[in-house]
Amino acid sequence: MKTKIQRINPEEFQDSELQEAGKILKKGGLVAFPTETVYGLGGNALETEAAYKIYNAKGRPSDNPLIVHIADMDALYAIAENVSDKAEKLAKAFWPGPLTMIFQKNEKVPDSTTGGLDTVAVRMPGHPVAIALIREAGGYVAAPSANTSGRPSPTKAEHVAEDLTGKIELIIDGGTVGIGLESTIVDLSTEEPVILRPGYITQEMLEEVIGEVTIDPAITSRNPKKDIKAKAPGMKYRHYAPKGQMMIVEGTMEKVVATINDMVQEKRQLGCRVAVIATEETKDCYECQMVRSVGSRKCEGSIAAGLYDILREMDHLEAEYIFAESFEEDTLGNAIMNRMLKAASYHLIRV
Ligand code: TXA
Ligand code: MG
Repeated sequence: MKTKIQRINPEEFQDSELQEAGKILKKGGLVAFPTETVYGLGGNALETEAAYKIYNAKGRPSDNPLIVHIADMDALYAIAENVSDKAEKLAKAFWPGPLTMIFQKNEKVPDSTTGGLDTVAVRMPGHPVAIALIREAGGYVAAPSANTSGRPSPTKAEHVAEDLTGKIELIIDGGTVGIGLESTIVDLSTEEPVILRPGYITQEMLEEVIGEVTIDPAITSRNPKKDIKAKAPGMKYRHYAPKGQMMIVEGTMEKVVATINDMVQEKRQLGCRVAVIATEETKDCYECQMVRSVGSRKCEGSIAAGLYDILREMDHLEAEYIFAESFEEDTLGNAIMNRMLKAASYHLIRV
């Protein structure tokens, strides 16, 4: 299959520019598109076959459910049962935006979209191109992140092209995304709201709107294999991972730098290709040829936005060993460390 790339300026475009993409989706085809979090791989959410095509293109296990992207609240009521007051409050506060909510589904949503679950994940994205595309496509676009399963999520159209060229009809290139980490997922299908995946919308932000929200213990765990199963099926898979072996080093900056320098030295003496994931503040402290800055410690948002690009670059550098600094697990840092720990298969040392 030939994959077309269409450039659209999110700041200035006509809805008519998305007609072709909408038609492809209506006919059951696949279109990758930008959202404010990461690029999505879209298919018609109400069609059984489209979901299988998505799983196929990503090489994703079909028991891992997809998020249904919508453009207005009517679309939510049309596919979800028992939308609670809390859910409505969260929608009012954070939609369109980087929040996904889980609801009881009705019969309109095929089992293929939800991986056989009787619940459905729904999100109204806060990106003008995404919203316009959903409307052109008829209102319901199922979209996982547009990466090959297991690889870091795409934050640029180039990342999508790297993984999915030849496998989908169209990639809409809307430039680099703003947030760079996938949406926060909250389960609202039961009485007590539970965070299933941390993201840009933090626990504190949610609690300000609806009171107590807990976090699925499986996602805060440092050693999940011994613990309880994650409630979001996708959180159990190896994820966001570069090909090399990654190790996160935690401690005071001075000790972290010294330890990483020692480990770099040791691996290089064995003839291995080694890279370091540093920050603007520390990038000059390493004695290593391949040092990359993920962003500035003064701005957590820059680290979130830069993380997946750097993880992909580790593959381009063919790094066999990757040593990374760690980040404070506060607010957005929770989501950053959640993704980094998965990328490192939970290899972390404290110094
Ligand atoms: O920011 C995002 O959410 C991006 C953009 C494209 O919107 N999408 C995304 O989709 O990250 P994906 O498929 O890569 O991640 C969806 C996650 C998976 O971990 C999946 O298991 C979980 O959501 N999920 C989906 N439906 C669910 C359900 N009914 N119950 C529990 N978890 C669910
Ligand atoms: Mg994903």
